[in-house]
Amino acid sequence: LASIEVDVSSVQPGMSLTVKWRGKPIFIRNRTEKEVAEANSVDLGELKDPVARNANLAADAKATDLDRSAGKGKENWIVMVGSCTHLGCVPLGQSGDFGGWFCPCHGSHYDTAGRIRKGPAPQNLAIPTFTFASDTVIRIG
Ligand code: FES
Repeated sequence: LASIEVDVSSVQPGMSLTVKWRGKPIFIRNRTEKEVAEANSVDLGELKDPVARNANLAADAKATDLDRSAGKGKENWIVMVGSCTHLGCVPLGQSGDFGGWFCPCHGSHYDTAGRIRKGPAPQNLAIPTFTFASDTVIRIG
């Protein structure tokens, strides 16, 4: 299926957008400085899944906040498949014990970088192939 382009010019810090791509919800969030700082303060040794799960990077890239984000200079942006890595429910934003996403189906808590921190989900929320087509347009796929 084709790629899609999403205009994010109206998505201010602290706001999110959900779009559909290949039948799945894609979460796009413009994170606040606090959310980025919180994610950066986590010791990677604490992570249940230490791998970035970022389709734009090498398969063994580490789950640093930078490598979970849209990259240098765009650390505020995070783009993820909105499908819990446990059994595929759609997690809720700005929820859970780590201020990121919470899956109500069986209680998986993801942090502000979408990394699994507590609950049955085995992996961080997946990051699809995407790029900034311009400063305000994200191309997914
Ligand atoms: Fe999300 Fe089970 S599907 S915790």
